[in-house]
Amino acid sequence: MKREKIACNCHNVSYGKIIDAVHAGADTVEKIGEATGAGTGCGGCRPFLASFLEDMKRFPEDYQ
Ligand code: FES
Repeated sequence: MKREKIACNCHNVSYGKIIDAVHAGADTVEKIGEATGAGTGCGGCRPFLASFLEDMKRFPEDYQ
């Protein structure tokens, strides 16, 4: 997992920022958007955010 990799280009939000937001309680794509701005621009990354969140819930040990 490369924390510095960019997940949302519109707002320059890294994987690491999303992981931290989810750990802080953002458990939906909407809440990730409120916490980080990710997904609130063109919306193109929203399907990715949804699958990323799903993967984090399924394999939490991969996102420590
Ligand atoms: S790439 Fe995330 S909102 Fe556009």
